[in-house]
Amino acid sequence: MKKDFLALSQFTKAELDAMFALCKELKAKTKNREEHHLLKGKTLAMIFEKSSTRTRISFEVGMYQLGGHPLFISSKDSQMGRGEPIKDTARVMARYCDGVMIRTFAQETVEEFAKYASIPIINGLTDLHHPCQIMADVFTVIEHKGSYDGLKFAWIGDGNNMANSWIEAAAIFGFDLTLACPEGYDPNPQVLAWAKANGSSKIVITRDPKEAAKDADVLNTDVWASMGQEEEQKIREKAFAGYQLNEELLDLAKGNAMVLHCLPAHRGEEISDEVIEGPHSAVWDEAENRLHVQKAIMATLMK
Ligand code: CP
Ligand code: NVA
Repeated sequence: MKKDFLALSQFTKAELDAMFALCKELKAKTKNREEHHLLKGKTLAMIFEKSSTRTRISFEVGMYQLGGHPLFISSKDSQMGRGEPIKDTARVMARYCDGVMIRTFAQETVEEFAKYASIPIINGLTDLHHPCQIMADVFTVIEHKGSYDGLKFAWIGDGNNMANSWIEAAAIFGFDLTLACPEGYDPNPQVLAWAKANGSSKIVITRDPKEAAKDADVLNTDVWASMGQEEEQKIREKAFAGYQLNEELLDLAKGNAMVLHCLPAHRGEEISDEVIEGPHSAVWDEAENRLHVQKAIMATLMK
């Protein structure tokens, strides 16, 4: 049976921890320039319906380092952009490729693709989830802190795809997460209900960023307007005023707190320049770890 990577909720803690162990091994091999062609002769198609810097480059380089071949497909330059049904595209691509990574709008699109394709499908971001990013983020926390156990995680800002995947991660890994979101911008209620039903972590939603930041070990934020919400930028700037991850919030966290941001960042909006450039920021390690963690995900699913 093939396995997809559409949301973290499809996996157990043991399965995700095994991916982190493989990630650590592959990262060391990459640094030592040791060959690790776990996907020799295999191909990954990468479909993009939204822009990307990190996801495209890390999947493409990762596939090459695993001895396989990546194909970049922009939906607008393929027949998908002219209305060819997802279910047809999925069945055709499964005849050529060994895996597909998709970045799109609706979670239902990746689910439909996965239903019709006989090969593993990886979610490279939807409006609902960004599971590869959260795997890289948790791996970065493990590297910096030794473990995620017993840590307090804070989310400041939009209850978006990143926040939803963090909520799933909190339930699966068993850490506490406080999300400070303005009214009207809460995380997805079904995701929250799933986390409550499937984990015992303390997951709190507050309107007060200070409450979230207080004594936090890991502080995390993301853009106020995600891809596809560009027209809401002005309304969102008003709604999110006061939800900036800045020195004032960081001062409330633990002295050795780390700051994450999936990037791209908007300095002066969701994060201050001082914080993203400051000593607590782990954003460059976090970005690098997209490469290593996705190699572990691909190797697990596609080998
Ligand atoms: N963090 C992230 O997914 O970045 P890109 O949009 O550049 O891929
Ligand atoms: N929430 C952001 C994440 C970008 C990597 C977006 O969806 O645009």
